[in-house]
Amino acid sequence: MKVDAYAVFGQPITHSKSPRIHQLFAEQTGQTLSYIAQEVSADAFNSAADKFFSQGGKGLNCTVPLKELAWRYADNLTERARLSKAVNTLVLQDDGGILGENTDGTGLVTDLTINHAIKLSGRRILILGAGGATRGILAPMLEHHPEQITIANRTLGKAEIIAAEFAHLGEVISSDYPNLDRQRFDLIINATSASLNGQLPPLADNLLSEQGCCYDLAYGNEPTTFVRWGIAQHARLSLDGLGMLVEQAAEAFALWRGIRPQTSAVIELLNSERGKTLPSA
Ligand code: ATR
Repeated sequence: MKVDAYAVFGQPITHSKSPRIHQLFAEQTGQTLSYIAQEVSADAFNSAADKFFSQGGKGLNCTVPLKELAWRYADNLTERARLSKAVNTLVLQDDGGILGENTDGTGLVTDLTINHAIKLSGRRILILGAGGATRGILAPMLEHHPEQITIANRTLGKAEIIAAEFAHLGEVISSDYPNLDRQRFDLIINATSASLNGQLPPLADNLLSEQGCCYDLAYGNEPTTFVRWGIAQHARLSLDGLGMLVEQAAEAFALWRGIRPQTSAVIELLNSERGKTLPSA
């Protein structure tokens, strides 16, 4: 019997947790499939994806630095993927076309609202960074009707462009870091790539409202620099993106297989494997 084949493409990819997550999902739901991680550079992306699908591959995840290329590669895009200009999931359709979807934002929103009971509606939210990661999360967050989302970026122009593109979906404002002064936010999300280098955007103290929460889209074996900042700011919860990783994978799995796996046991397992559950203040 030929097994349905899936893969994640990216560079670097060696430490990807996706094969493990999808294997756990497959066991849990009784699905038979293969899922491998493949190192693919930006230059090689189109030919690698062509080869994968021509050999019978059913679906791909794409991660750094390939999400924009995957967005261009897809024959059809969901509305949220179109706005994101980034795709993390490609799906082979019945007619042979390739559908591009971005499950990152839904993954984040599920982790925030379901796993951690963090309410978004009516809240003041600050997103740090104005790159592809921010584009990927904005539409699903705005569906929850926050009072306002402010996008802060070192390069103000990039934040302005994104704010304008998403303005039809809700109240989206742009700012540089110095002008955040004297504002208070209920939720601060780090969507910069600063964490990966152990750096932090230039954040003032007192940006977080009492009982406010922090969330870093990045994750690691140790709390990230931004998670530590949140704890120092007395965040009610200061979380990293491990839950989002598992939730975005569950969304992709559901698109491919038509069945949504349970995520809590998988998140718990991955958390225990990094030695500890993240601290909250
Ligand atoms: P991604 O697709 O992961 O979002 P990106 O498009 O390269 O990656 O965007 C990275 C984001 O992180 C940008 O918003 C960048 O700010 P600039 O646009 O001003 O360059 C932000 N960033 C990276 N390192 C940072 C740092 N040390 N402090 C603040 N912002 C940082």
